[in-house]
Amino acid sequence: MDLGQHATLPADLRYIQYEHVLEARYLPAIRSLISKDLSEPYSIYVYRYFLCQWAHLCFMALNPEDSSLIGVIICKLEVHSSHSPPTRRGYIAMLAVAAPYRGYGVATSLVKMAIDAMAKRNADEIVLETEETNIPAMRLYERLGFLRSKKLHRYYLNGSSAYRLVLLLKPFDPSLAPDDEDGQIL
Ligand SMILES: CC(C)(COP(=O)(O)OP(=O)(O)OC[C@H]1O[C@@H](n2cnc3c(N)ncnc32)[C@H](O)[C@@H]1OP(=O)(O)O)[C@@H](O)C(=O)NCCC(=O)NCCS
Repeated sequence: MDLGQHATLPADLRYIQYEHVLEARYLPAIRSLISKDLSEPYSIYVYRYFLCQWAHLCFMALNPEDSSLIGVIICKLEVHSSHSPPTRRGYIAMLAVAAPYRGYGVATSLVKMAIDAMAKRNADEIVLETEETNIPAMRLYERLGFLRSKKLHRYYLNGSSAYRLVLLLKPFDPSLAPDDEDGQIL
């Protein structure tokens, strides 16, 4: 496939939740799709860390014609008991759409599915980091209500900086605002 060309989005794209039985069929495609745009490739253990524990928070967009992978989102949800009260924090770890299918709302649909799945599991908030120069990702997340909570200078190995974005899913009570890992109020 020529990734430089724009494709016509197949009608009736299929969105499915990842399951362990799909590993042999889709994990190589997931790794290849995500690593194309990463400055620091992840080992297979990183993928398995997320996919084995939080398969219910990972979704794929498939081409209905041949079931090939067009997009994927990988997330987790953990309780941070050091916070008072404990915070249920969702995290979007990876998101990618194959280049010819970008700009059609595929990532927006995947992120919405992940938000719904985390909200259903009572998440208080969802966080992620994205490169400050990644305009499509920043636009997509801010359109869905994510706010910039912090700038992370030289966050990536290639030296570029990131924004931490947060989507608050519960009404915000400033008196209960937790400190984040760096000791700053989010
Ligand atoms: C970021 C990414 C997932 C978006 O996927 P997508 O399916 O094209 O996303 P959507 O179509 O749902 O929305 C993309 C938004 O970015 C905008 N956009 C796309 N390309 C753009 C560009 N070059 N400049 C400015 N805006 C752009 C779109 O117009 C859309 O915003 P809008 O709806 O407000 O117009 C995709 O570009 C990608 O896989 N990038 C490489 C991996 C990556 O960066 N992942 C995110 C890491 S946090």
